[in-house]
Amino acid sequence: MSTGHPELVAAIASEIADSGPIPFVRFMELALYHPQFGYYMRSPESPQERIGWRGDFYTSSDVHPILGQALAKQAEQMYRLLGQPHSFTIVEMGPGKGLLAKHILTTCAHRYRSFFQHLRYVLVDRSPAMRELQRKNLATWLDRAGLLTWVDDLANVDPHSLTGLFFSNELVDSFPVHRVQVTANGIEELWVDCRDGRFVECLMPLSSDTLAHRLRPVSADWPEGYRTEINLRASEWMKQVAQHLNRGFVLTIDYGHTAQDLYRSDRKHGTFLCYFRQSINEEPFLRVGEQDMTAHVDFSSLAAAGESHTLQTTGFTNQMSFLMGLGIEQMIAELEQDSPQFKAAIHLLKPNGMGTTFKVLIQHKGIQQPDLDGLQYKPFFGSALTTQSAA
Ligand SMILES: C[S@@+](CC[C@H](N)C(=O)[O-])C[C@H]1O[C@@H](n2cnc3c(N)ncnc32)[C@H](O)[C@@H]1O
Repeated sequence: MSTGHPELVAAIASEIADSGPIPFVRFMELALYHPQFGYYMRSPESPQERIGWRGDFYTSSDVHPILGQALAKQAEQMYRLLGQPHSFTIVEMGPGKGLLAKHILTTCAHRYRSFFQHLRYVLVDRSPAMRELQRKNLATWLDRAGLLTWVDDLANVDPHSLTGLFFSNELVDSFPVHRVQVTANGIEELWVDCRDGRFVECLMPLSSDTLAHRLRPVSADWPEGYRTEINLRASEWMKQVAQHLNRGFVLTIDYGHTAQDLYRSDRKHGTFLCYFRQSINEEPFLRVGEQDMTAHVDFSSLAAAGESHTLQTTGFTNQMSFLMGLGIEQMIAELEQDSPQFKAAIHLLKPNGMGTTFKVLIQHKGIQQPDLDGLQYKPFFGSALTTQSAA
């Protein structure tokens, strides 16, 4: 039997027994988000079990509050550029433990008091366990009337209702992906079967026309054996975000690349990875429901999806440049040189690590091409984001 959470393994095996092999994207959906037994959906035995230094992986907000501080600064500038609306809403989707929200709110309350008076913060997370953790970490703010709201699904937020900022950090990489491989028959998709009590992958035809359509413009040079991932959910999500934003910005941080880079012919093994206790592996059929799974984000198709649905691309940069544009050097100068705090903040900027692996895409709607501090420095030029891949 494949290893993992026993009830989850049984639920997936039973779906395969009923309907035959399932596309990998469905397997990943169940492993991470099965309503009762999925990795993100179960209450962890210890709150630190998943995200954090003692969990399977850590995110920027575990490293240092400085990212939240910079985001607060960027949000306050957006508020001014929008003409200081009576109500400015930050919608954070996939807030994990809620630490970034905590850092943003704390900074706004202390440094940007006038902005804070007009701020509403909506946390959207499909996981009840994560929402509970967010409430614990944001306990200080719970009694401030009207400040915080939780929803489980963006569909439960009024369409076209938001003026403000739609923000996410490491959300899109956690969407289930289709996995494909070039074979002698052309491009085939990885499906998951269950044989002798074990999950196994099999290569079969593509499961949808949309997938075939997305592959066409990026796959011309791929050699036989080439394997990669396509995140169709990300484009659907971007459309949904665009529909909810009346006026304002979308700011997406994640590890990823432009399509030109992500789908170049020498990146033969794709970017799919599993995370378990701070180590990585490429074995999704081990520890099913007990380890995270991710794939790097295609920022070109995110930008293209936005452009097809009323969002203009403001700019694209990496985390290091974004933070530098927002004055991280001055923020770091306030920390004691070589202290653990100082080293942690530097970690977010590392040119061969989080500083460049993480990218920042900003889009806008209902405002003329705005100049944002976070986009002052851009390591990408000209048509770097351009892709012929349709949204
Ligand atoms: C990797 S964690 C994000 C970590 C967090 N943003 C941080 O900075 O530490 C992914 C989060 O996204 C949530 N999530 C994934 N898909 C979602 C969806 N479609 N709607 C809402 N939340 C989602 C998960 O429950 C989880 O809390």
